[in-house]
Amino acid sequence: MKNIFRLGLAALLLATSTVQAQPLGEPAPDVGAGKKRAAACFACHNPDGIAKIPGTPHLAGQERGYLENALRAYRDGQTRQNPIMNAMAKPLSDRDIVNIAAYYSLQTRMNNGPAR
Ligand code: HEC
Repeated sequence: MKNIFRLGLAALLLATSTVQAQPLGEPAPDVGAGKKRAAACFACHNPDGIAKIPGTPHLAGQERGYLENALRAYRDGQTRQNPIMNAMAKPLSDRDIVNIAAYYSLQTRMNNGPAR
């Protein structure tokens, strides 16, 4: 019985620690920190990443690298120009971006269109 418990615990730890392969030398994203930092984004993108405001994209389940690139592009203010997102991304550190992208990428996408 004890061994089964240990096995379950090991499987759980393994599952939570291998969220996504990391490039060498980069620390794994901190999804909890990403969620905290993303509080600033919830008004528009919602905590579950499914936006309800017209013109606001859903972030849930989006590819992590894509989200990182999008946020860097908004942060530099040149590559991707949008007054709201340029302002929102400006104060984000590189780690914030990695963490927030991980947080939204792990969420469940909608599977049948935007009506929700
Ligand atoms: C006031 C509303 C608002 C807030 C707050 C906001 N966003 Fe956005 N976000 C938008 C809108 C609108 C767009 C679409 C902009 C465009 O057309 O480029 C967008 C676009 C994005 C995109 C691009 C998605 C894609 O598919 O290319 C990402 C990523 C994103 N936001 C992340 C964030 C993060 C992270 C935060 C918090 C730090 C945040 N947003 C806060 C409204 C908001």
